[in-house]
Amino acid sequence: MSEISFQPFLEVRKIKRKYGNVEALRGVDLKAYTGEVLAIVGDNGAGKSTLIKILSGAIAPDSGEIIIAGKKYHKLKPKSALEAGITTVYQDLALVNTLDTSDNIFLGREYLKNIFCLDEKKMHQEAQELLEKLGIQVPFLHTAVGYLSGGQRQGVAVARAVHQGGKLLIFDEPTAAMGVKETVAVLKLIKSLAKKGFGIIVISHNMEQVFQVSDRICVMRQGEVVGSVKTDEADPQDVVAMITGAIKIEDASNYRSNKNELTS
Ligand SMILES: Nc1ncnc2c1ncn2[C@@H]1O[C@H](COP(=O)(O)OP(=O)(O)OP(=O)(O)O)[C@@H](O)[C@H]1O
Ligand SMILES: [Mg+2]
Repeated sequence: MSEISFQPFLEVRKIKRKYGNVEALRGVDLKAYTGEVLAIVGDNGAGKSTLIKILSGAIAPDSGEIIIAGKKYHKLKPKSALEAGITTVYQDLALVNTLDTSDNIFLGREYLKNIFCLDEKKMHQEAQELLEKLGIQVPFLHTAVGYLSGGQRQGVAVARAVHQGGKLLIFDEPTAAMGVKETVAVLKLIKSLAKKGFGIIVISHNMEQVFQVSDRICVMRQGEVVGSVKTDEADPQDVVAMITGAIKIEDASNYRSNKNELTS
């Protein structure tokens, strides 16, 4: 049987990054596909945020390659990451609390009626259309986002990321400090975005959520990727064992064949 091969939207090859003497990333390899939710898990200090900072252009790697939609980069600037379609969705940092939803979506790229006046009507209309297209429910379009709930703010941040041209959306702990209902809504949104053809990377410490939302789980440990498993073939206990190091790198690469032997 021939194997269907899909081109990854993002490929990270042998990325290394030190902070002084600390080897935060020691040669990370990773692939992310559009239409898929990839969860990156790992203990504190495993290197997850460092990797995301490199992908969003906040810091540069010491070596390695990043390939986005077939184009090779040795490092990214925030602008080049955005132009290439990689957007990190920061629930809080990206939004201006005193502005309403559409002003936040258009932040920095507003429509002008003339040099003195914003075209609020056009922006509201387009914001409404975008939110509907993405299935994001924000009840009060004219309310300052500071008054919205955490889940609704996450929705606005997603709409902003998509409006900026994001094709691969990265979430670092997207449901941190959220209540149960809001968490459910955000996870549903993330899944639906993948179904709409966006690529999604989610970093989370919450194993239950990781298993609920992801299609694939990538485990990082001490600056390396020690395992990448399909969520529906993975056992939560094994993933935890990879995170803690109880399953070693060599075992992790044999994970699937071991599993098959065990279950056959
Ligand atoms: N600015 C920095 N200066 C020095 N060391 C750093 C810096 N940022 C991260 N590190 C170190 O790099 C390593 C990886 O950190 P990173 O923040 O990427 O981990 P993480 O997987 O995101 O952890 P967490 O789950 O706690 O968020 C850690 O040893 C950390 O102490
Ligand atoms: Mg982190």
